[in-house]
Amino acid sequence: MAFAMEGTLGRSRRLASRTRTASASSSGLLLLCLSTSSLLAHAAAPGRPSQGSLHALPTCPVNRAACPVTSGARSFHSSSHNWRSSPQFSYQVAASYSAKGHRFNAERNTYTRRVFDPAKGRFQSLKECKEATDKRMRAKSGQDSFFFSQVGTTHTSAFGVADGVGGWVESGVDPADFSHGLCEYMACAARIWSQEASSSSLHPKDLLQVAYDEVIADKSIIGGGSTACLAVAEPDGNVEVANLGDSGFMHLGLNAVRHFTQPQTHAFNTPYQLSKTPERMLVQMAVFGGTSALSDLPKESNVTHHQVRHGDVLIFATDGVWDNLSPQDALSIVSRSMIDLGGWVEKAGAMEVGPDLQDLTQAKQARKADNTSLQAKLAIAIAKEAKETSLNTRRDGPFAKEVQKYYPGENWHGGKPDDIAAVVAVVVEE
Ligand SMILES: *[C@@H]1O[C@H](CO)[C@@H](O)[C@H](O)[C@H]1NC(C)=O
Ligand SMILES: *[C@@H]1O[C@H](CO)[C@@H](O)[C@H](O)[C@H]1NC(C)=O
Repeated sequence: MAFAMEGTLGRSRRLASRTRTASASSSGLLLLCLSTSSLLAHAAAPGRPSQGSLHALPTCPVNRAACPVTSGARSFHSSSHNWRSSPQFSYQVAASYSAKGHRFNAERNTYTRRVFDPAKGRFQSLKECKEATDKRMRAKSGQDSFFFSQVGTTHTSAFGVADGVGGWVESGVDPADFSHGLCEYMACAARIWSQEASSSSLHPKDLLQVAYDEVIADKSIIGGGSTACLAVAEPDGNVEVANLGDSGFMHLGLNAVRHFTQPQTHAFNTPYQLSKTPERMLVQMAVFGGTSALSDLPKESNVTHHQVRHGDVLIFATDGVWDNLSPQDALSIVSRSMIDLGGWVEKAGAMEVGPDLQDLTQAKQARKADNTSLQAKLAIAIAKEAKETSLNTRRDGPFAKEVQKYYPGENWHGGKPDDIAAVVAVVVEE
């Protein structure tokens, strides 16, 4: 029964292969920009800007004078109070996840380490950066994937999630390759970004476009599809979010939901998605004819802008979370944890940001999965609750409510087992 339901209600994949030429040429420019820029901006320290990564910025090997951002970032760090008056924010990021069918283990299913060790990598190009990623080291998050990275040598961060859409499995394609590859390319593209080589700042939609084009061109990724929800978060508190499909973003301020993205779907349970059709199937379709092929493109993602404040919490999560937790559930989990841990405090009947927020976001140990920071505890709390709810056969989650609305005959109750991934950023004013 459960299997049959899964069959009817499993997410639909749309057949891909709308011509890529248009998108390829538009992002050709971006890529050119990225590869020339990488000559100047070597090996940005990616990952969490805290924990000393900004101190570890490598020097510019090409020409010091051409590297104002690098040297600026160094001196900025030691004398920030003297020449910056507007508030400066940092984003403290952690992720937690659980693959469908696996037991949730808070210790193992947490990710707080920066994705690339700046001491090890000095990448000349996106390709070189991507090749340095090791498939065997990927988080065991099933078809869900996530990333976070510093943008070039700036104080800007990029982070997000991608949810691989199944459907090619029967043709021997690992559906995790597309979403994990997409995230690796996004992390790399952010990492080698150079501000001085581009006229404007990095936009999440452009980051997605570059990564998508790389996935299409990458012969090791045979095919597949994915949703994506990502942000570029600036130190001045401006956060730009791009969402394609039914992963989602939530912005929480002191005990309140400030924004929740609307999922993009073509039909019930058929999210907008990027996709790549295996070469073999394209050939078959050319010879025998086939379904008129459709795929969504990065430019179709919905873009929103948000101004964050000290103590805000940003959540990026796949539908494995949102199908099981309503925005109100997520707010309750975050509020409870923030209040318990002192991130938010109640004072004279009002809620305010706790005085120790910055300390709370510092991990106690520099481990891969250090669960002592506030952001790690929040990510774990969300993933854990989503996991438990997904396995609960009695408590109807948002997915059950949707099914009951569209397919009352199905008699679906309880949660929806799925891969789960949540990236949490706690906003700290420095
Ligand atoms: C954090 O990890 C430690 C072991 O490293 C474990 O004992 C503890 O239960 C974990 N805490 C949470 C909240 O996951
Ligand atoms: C979101 O994106 C879809 C697809 O590109 C578009 O049709 C829709 O108008 C967008 N919605 C908003 C609010 O921008």
